[in-house]
Parts: sequence; C-alpha cells; structure tokens
Amino acid sequence: MLATVLSGVVVGVDCVLVRVEVSVTSGLPSLSVVGLPQSAVREGKDRVRAALHNAGYSLPPRRITVNLSPADVKKEGSGFDLPLALGLLAGSGHLSATAIEGHAFLGELGLNGELRPVRGTLPVAAACRRSGIGSLVVPNANAAEAAAGGGGLEVIGAETLAEVVGHLQGSARLASVQVGVDELLRGDPPDGADLAEVRGHRGVKRALEVAAAGGHNLLLRGPPGSGKTMLARRLPGILPPLTHQDALEATTIHSVAGLLPSGQGLLHHRPFRTPHHTVSAAGLVGGGSPPKPGEVSLAHHGVLFLDELPEFSRSVLETLRQPLEDGWMSLVRARYRVRFPARFTFVASMNPCPCGHLGDPRRPCTCDPSQVNRYRSRISGPLLDRIDLHVEVPVVRYRELMDRPAGESSSDVRGRVTRARTVQRERWCTDRNQDSASGTDRIGRGGAVGTAPDRATTRTEAAYWNAALPPAGIERWCRPDRASARLLQDAADRLGLSPRAIHRVLKVARTIADLEGSEGIGEVHLAEAVQYRGG
Ligand SMILES: Nc1ncnc2c1ncn2[C@@H]1O[C@H](COP(=O)(O)OP(=O)(O)OP(=O)(O)O)[C@@H](O)[C@H]1O
Ligand SMILES: [Mg+2]
Repeated sequence: MLATVLSGVVVGVDCVLVRVEVSVTSGLPSLSVVGLPQSAVREGKDRVRAALHNAGYSLPPRRITVNLSPADVKKEGSGFDLPLALGLLAGSGHLSATAIEGHAFLGELGLNGELRPVRGTLPVAAACRRSGIGSLVVPNANAAEAAAGGGGLEVIGAETLAEVVGHLQGSARLASVQVGVDELLRGDPPDGADLAEVRGHRGVKRALEVAAAGGHNLLLRGPPGSGKTMLARRLPGILPPLTHQDALEATTIHSVAGLLPSGQGLLHHRPFRTPHHTVSAAGLVGGGSPPKPGEVSLAHHGVLFLDELPEFSRSVLETLRQPLEDGWMSLVRARYRVRFPARFTFVASMNPCPCGHLGDPRRPCTCDPSQVNRYRSRISGPLLDRIDLHVEVPVVRYRELMDRPAGESSSDVRGRVTRARTVQRERWCTDRNQDSASGTDRIGRGGAVGTAPDRATTRTEAAYWNAALPPAGIERWCRPDRASARLLQDAADRLGLSPRAIHRVLKVARTIADLEGSEGIGEVHLAEAVQYRGG
C-alpha cells in the first residue's frame, strides 16, 4: 500500500516542497526513512511512533519504507513529524488517501500527540500558495505566520494529531485562520522613545532624517554622554511603515531563525537589531548547520545598530563588507550554499578616541597619538567607505539641554520621510513598468515539489530606496546639474573620494532632493551630501 503526503523543507529562506511517500509491504516489521533525512527527521520516526501509539493507533507488523522526495535535498528539522504520522496512518489504512489529498502538513509531534511549533512555516506556506496547494495544516502557534501571506491558501491550525485526523475525516472540522494584515501594519512604532526628547543637535537630527529617508548608513561620532545612543535608538520611530511585501520578507527571516514570537503572524515594525560587541562572525552575518541567518539578515528592511563600533572585533566587522555592498549575505560552506537577504540601514556610534574627548573644547584629551591611531584603526577604510553619513555629535550646552522647548516629534519627521520614500518607490515602479520585459521578481520562484531556485535562495531583493540604487539607477536618476557636478569633482579631488564614495554621495544628494520635493539634484543638495563625507 502506498500513501503520499505533501510537506516542505526550508533551504535558506525558501522552501522546497517535499513528498513524504509511505510504502507498506510484506516482510519483517521495520520502519526506515530514506531521502537524506538529517538527525531531527531520523529522530522524528520514534516520536511519531510513540505519538501514534498514545493516540490509540497501531502500525501493522510489516515492512514500512518512507521516502522523502526529492532525494537530493537534505531534510532538516522536526516539521516532518506530522506528515510522517499522517502518511503512516494512510499507509496502514487508518485514513483514506483522498482525505489527505490537496493538503500540505507541517509540525512537530510531542509523544502525547500534541503539535509543537516549527521554524520556517512562512516560507513553506508561500511555496504552497505558489504551487496552488489548497490548504496547509500547521501547529496553532504557527498558523498566523502561515496565513500572513494572504489569500489563495487555506491555513488550518491544530493543537493535536487527533484534531488533524478529525478534520481530515470530516468528523470535527477546524476553522481556517485569517490575519488582519492592514491593521497590523498601520500600528504605531513600538517604543515610545521620541526624537523630541533629544535637545539641540539640529544638524544630527537632520542627518538622521536623511538616513531614514534614503536608507543611508550613518556613523555618529562624539564624546561620552553626548547623546549618540539616544539618537540612534530614535531612528526606528522615524522610519516609514513596512509594506506587506517587506513585512513578509522580514518575517520570513525571523521565522527560519526561529525568532518569531509564538502566534505572531507578521513583523509589523521595522526590525532594529543591536548586537553586543562580543557577537561572533556567525552571529553577525549568519552560519551554522543548518545555516541560520545572522543579525544582518534579521535587520533586513530595518536597522542594524552597532553601538561602540571600535569595541567589535575587527575581523567580525570585516564580514559586514559583502552585505553592506550587496544587500544579501551569501554563505558557502562544504555542505551548503545559501543566500540570505540583508538589506538594512547600518548605524554605528563611536567616540573619537579612547578617552572620548579628542576635539572636545571643554575637556582635554588624555590619549597619546599612537593610542588614537590604534583605536581608529580598529575600523577599516573599506568599512568606513561604505558609510554615507559621517556625523559629529558634540555635547549640548547646559542651557540647551535644560531650557529649549522640545523639538519636532518623531511622527512629524516620519511624515516627511514617508513622503520622500513614496517618491522613490514611484520612481522605481515607473521605471520597472517601463522595463517590464526585463524586470525581476522580488521573490524567487521556488514552488513545485523539489524545486528551490538554485537549491539555494535566489531572491532578488529589488529595493526601492535610494541607498539601494544600482549603478544604472544612479546613472539615470542621480545626475547632478552642471554646477553641482563641478562641486562634486572638487570634493572628490579634495577628499580623495573613491568611486564608491562618489556614487554614495550622489545617492545621498538624491535623497536630500527627494526630501525637498525637487526633481533635479542641485548644488545645495550636493553640498549637503558632500558635507556628510567630511567635505
Ligand atoms: N541632546 C540631549 N538631549 C537630551 N538628553 C541628552 C542629550 N544628550 C545626552 N542626553 C542624556 O544623556 C544620556 C546619555 O546619552 P547617550 O547614552 O546617548 O550618550 P552616548 O553619546 O551614547 O555616550 P557614550 O559614548 O558614553 O556611549 C541620555 O540617556 C540622556 O539622558
Ligand atoms: Mg552610547
């Protein structure tokens, strides 16, 4: 007797749909699983056997072979427990083959038959949706994330194996799960920290606004207690709300990392990641087996904030070079090759020297030049070159701190930032429509059983904010007028700007023009952009 149940395995942030084929033949009683099952799947065999026994089902004393197809993809994780249990029930005549047709299943089983949450439900749901599978049955705790992708796939959440069997047999139907995506995404930013609490610092707040409006990287440098950390923590509050598509991408990464809170359907605020300076390279950019996304990917569509930048290991910081340039992180190891999206705004803070007072008019610096050099050399030139806005954060004066009325609130600034981002999105979309013949999809097309694009992740995260513009976009939309071109050439010679830095200055100038609602890039926009490079 042969039974087939559909499920999926996560590869990077994509899913390969998997057929769990159960064959029951005469022979000595045994249960073997083939098709590259990894340890969690092999162990699942015993969990499933116990769960079935405790639910009152007995397996026939025959030879049972389970094949996980396609055979060349490693099957990781405990999500195969539920499909395996149902395959065994169908293969041994407890469940009809038609009952499981058109459904896919994912979930870990406890020995008592309870369904437990698993990682990566969202990408499995996305693959089911793309492949036209009618319904997906998952543990209750994962149901909201499976349903967050919207229509086209019925999502059923269940508490136990018995509930799933009852649903399939039609004796006790379970309701399908819906998620109110629009209300979720309309919510206010989570943290009450407001920009108005920061006194003074008009110039730094302006730089923060430019960074938010175009997604540009920012370095805040200043003496201790001048408000660098305070300012950086207020960046999420001025970022525009996530779109549904961006929220799905960010949630997918949290889902495969196992960091999505139980029952949460969608990340509805831009992530703000603040790893400690003791973070390892694998923690920062991803790694492990099976590969897990690092902080750079968890910050996708949000902010990665490295406070006290020189305290991080230099070799760890160097791993940021690829994601900062490309917007994704590629992990190639002997046993796997995956690509995680990592398009984030990078914010860092540092003191100007070990004592923190170099350049402070009120307190003398006590460091000798070699100490200052050593301190600064912890951050490499190539990393600094990838930072668009280099901003000094001086100590505000006592009067300014105590007397001044509060400045603009985060929501006012967020309004301007959101308008500037809308301009960028419209520009991008118009261009994509014009180029629709050669346009790229935002999400890789993995879906049919056994197909994951490139057996790895091939998302082409088409970003639509200025910091992510490719060279062709710079050519097209960041052309300075004649006077500003002269100004840029002067600055490039004077500051020794690299070609990368010149491109980044142009993108910042584009954002400044967008904030002003200007179609062209003028001298004033370019001058401000150059000033953020120390010009
Ligand atoms: N401009 C400011 N407006 C209001 N409060 C401020 C300002 N600057 C500093 N503060 C106060 O000082 C505290 C310390 O600021 P913060 O931690 O941001 O300093 P920092 O520049 O990160 O210092 P360090 O280099 O030591 O990390 C803030 O929590 C706040 O109470
Ligand atoms: Mg600080």
